[in-house]
Amino acid sequence: MAELPEHAAVNREYWDGMAHEWVESGERAWSQAEPSWGIWSVPESELHLLPDDMTGMRAIELGCGTAYVAAWMARRGATVTGIDNSAEQLRTAQRLSEQHGVALELIHGNAEKVPQPDGSFDFAISEYGAAIWADPYAWIPEAHRLLRPGGTLVFLGNHILVAMCSPVDGSFPIARRLERPYFGIHRLDWRDAVDDPGGIEFSLTFSEWIRLFRETGFEILDLAEIHAPADATGSHAGISADWARDFPSEHVWTLRKAA
Ligand SMILES: C[S@@+](CC[C@H](N)C(=O)[O-])C[C@H]1O[C@@H](n2cnc3c(N)ncnc32)[C@H](O)[C@@H]1O
Repeated sequence: MAELPEHAAVNREYWDGMAHEWVESGERAWSQAEPSWGIWSVPESELHLLPDDMTGMRAIELGCGTAYVAAWMARRGATVTGIDNSAEQLRTAQRLSEQHGVALELIHGNAEKVPQPDGSFDFAISEYGAAIWADPYAWIPEAHRLLRPGGTLVFLGNHILVAMCSPVDGSFPIARRLERPYFGIHRLDWRDAVDDPGGIEFSLTFSEWIRLFRETGFEILDLAEIHAPADATGSHAGISADWARDFPSEHVWTLRKAA
């Protein structure tokens, strides 16, 4: 296997080390009849991230983790590939795929460099996979390469406001004021964070995202900014439901590869 960039090597170790903590949520999501998205479990009926009928479509999940999104697509009729950087996450994905009788092609690797030919897929998606853990300047062009002309890329991850309101020492909770500059975020290294130290994530400003999409050859179909539902409680990684009712905690971009 080709040598990994530093962030991918760090994130591999991080995710292999905590994959066991994601087994239970993966099992729950595999059992869901109806998809729901992100930390607030917003139902598919509100977000419409997947085509209702994916019969005959070739789809890829970039950073699939336990691969429940891949399973949701396969149940809608798609032939699905999932790639993930963590062998331990894929171990759970493989077990659940066998248990549920849902066939998936699972690849261990970096979503920035996928061992599949150009134009192999009609649909690509990432929910908190490549969407936040891979360098957008590498994985967005790679997703573009993998899609056929007219193919769709959907990705969901943290809104940049979360990074801007995150205290610089990585402590929780996320503040109701700006803690970091908007410009120049790109790479967020959480290894020394006070609370829940983690791996290396990525985020761009809105103008940087838009420029990257246009220069890569994507058309923007939609940008959704997700907030917590009225009845949401608790908090996820320092983001409380109260915070996320007032500010967007997640974004979803929907893009089309120009024909
Ligand atoms: C939070 S999970 C995403 C899967 C699922 N949607 C979820 O939310 O649980 C994050 C996954 O991204 C994977 N990941 C991180 N960097 C990656 C990369 N460069 N290429 C492929 N997968 C990556 C991790 O190994 C991990 O399994």
